[in-house]
Amino acid sequence: MKGKGENRNISLLNNYIDWVSILNKLETLFLFLITIIIITILLSSDGLLSFIFVALMIIVAVFLHKKMKKRKRIIKDKNYIRDRLLYFIRAQGLFEEDVREYEERNNQGNWKKVREKYISNSTIFSYKQTDKNLIIYAHKQADNFTRKLSELEEALRALFDLDIEQVINRNTVVEYHMLIAQPERLDLSTNEIEPVDSLEINLGYGVKYNPVKTPHALIAGGTGSGKSILTSVFILELLKRNVNIFICDPKNSDLGSLSHYIGDKKVATTPNNIARVVRHAVTEMNERYKYMNENFKYGSNFVDHGYNSIWLVFDEMGAFQASGTDKKSKEVVNEVMDGLKQIILLGRQSGVFVLVSAQQMNANTLKTDLRDNLGLRVALGSNSSEGYRMVFGSATPDTFPPIETKGAGLIYMQGSGKEKAQYWESPFVDMEKFDFIAELQKYL
Ligand SMILES: Nc1ncnc2c1ncn2[C@@H]1O[C@H](COP(=O)(O)OP(=O)(O)OP(=O)(O)O)[C@@H](O)[C@H]1O
Ligand SMILES: [Mg+2]
Repeated sequence: MKGKGENRNISLLNNYIDWVSILNKLETLFLFLITIIIITILLSSDGLLSFIFVALMIIVAVFLHKKMKKRKRIIKDKNYIRDRLLYFIRAQGLFEEDVREYEERNNQGNWKKVREKYISNSTIFSYKQTDKNLIIYAHKQADNFTRKLSELEEALRALFDLDIEQVINRNTVVEYHMLIAQPERLDLSTNEIEPVDSLEINLGYGVKYNPVKTPHALIAGGTGSGKSILTSVFILELLKRNVNIFICDPKNSDLGSLSHYIGDKKVATTPNNIARVVRHAVTEMNERYKYMNENFKYGSNFVDHGYNSIWLVFDEMGAFQASGTDKKSKEVVNEVMDGLKQIILLGRQSGVFVLVSAQQMNANTLKTDLRDNLGLRVALGSNSSEGYRMVFGSATPDTFPPIETKGAGLIYMQGSGKEKAQYWESPFVDMEKFDFIAELQKYL
């Protein structure tokens, strides 16, 4: 969508006509004239006609005042962003002043030197406005201010009272993408069930997730941050799409109880069973690979070969790794981790995906190269900057929005065009109204 204000450079070096003060002056002049006319009429005669004339004048004055007020409002609205940015350049000191000297003849006819301050340099902004976004462009001119232009996030947030969705630092311009319309959180208890006609999953808040484009997912967050709820939502969405689901729940909490519905072959809670399930997924992946290689079709994936997706949902990876205390259990942990690694690196083409959740992410939970292969990454709840870095790596934003809502956090999706993790609210699930098991059974 082409927006308003595009390509118009805003800087203190431009001269802007101040229409509002011109209108103010005009209005004052008109009112003054009308007053003079009224006084003249009142002084010169006192008939009915002059009374009507005075009344008429007053009506004209009021009408004029209203019209002017409206016009000024329109001008102010139209120039709002420009004027805020001009204020911003001054308030942030993003300009330079110099002094120039020139000679002027004074009243006595003598030449006199005059020193005058003027603005010699100013940063240049421009903007683009659509229904959803306001993008502020800070143009780099390789001058003193260039570095500062990439550090305006907090100040711009305050200037417009808008959240910043992303900052893109290009060679010659820094783009601040601000959100005008807040994306809406999905509410599973009230939302109509959307027809499922593709693998794409609507995660709400403007995020649509397609596993084929962005394979594998990671959900991180402290205790009580909403990992299990989000994982459940995910499972439900996958079941709607006829996905073959395997669940590993080493803490044997909510997800473990799904074995009653999905079958205990597909739900594992003990280390040995978890190893068996992961082995099964890896074997399936390898068989698919073999078949697909034998029936090679250039650029094809599992869908073209008639396969459904397989998802391995692994809750609380950290807890599982911690269970490897002696030699034997360590072997099991290693085997499982090795299987997960193979799926993460090779699963996409054959349609085998993993979703991992973990309380604490660190280099031991998942090596960074593996983490970077998890296309969708969510960090729920408030985290320390190191915590975020462990989840998002180079996609960690420079500043973190406050997270005050249950189930909210940051999300990053590879290939979405957003370079850094964004604020996001996971689908809202009202536990009083929403019967997860009943929903689940609809799709089994
Ligand atoms: N999307 C959501 N919608 C509504 N409530 C939520 C949501 N996410 C979290 N909550 C609230 O937070 C509580 C904790 O959520 P959840 O059990 O998913 O956290 P967790 O991260 O799995 O915690 P733990 O580490 O203890 O397993 C829920 O019982 C619910 O009250
Ligand atoms: Mg949990």
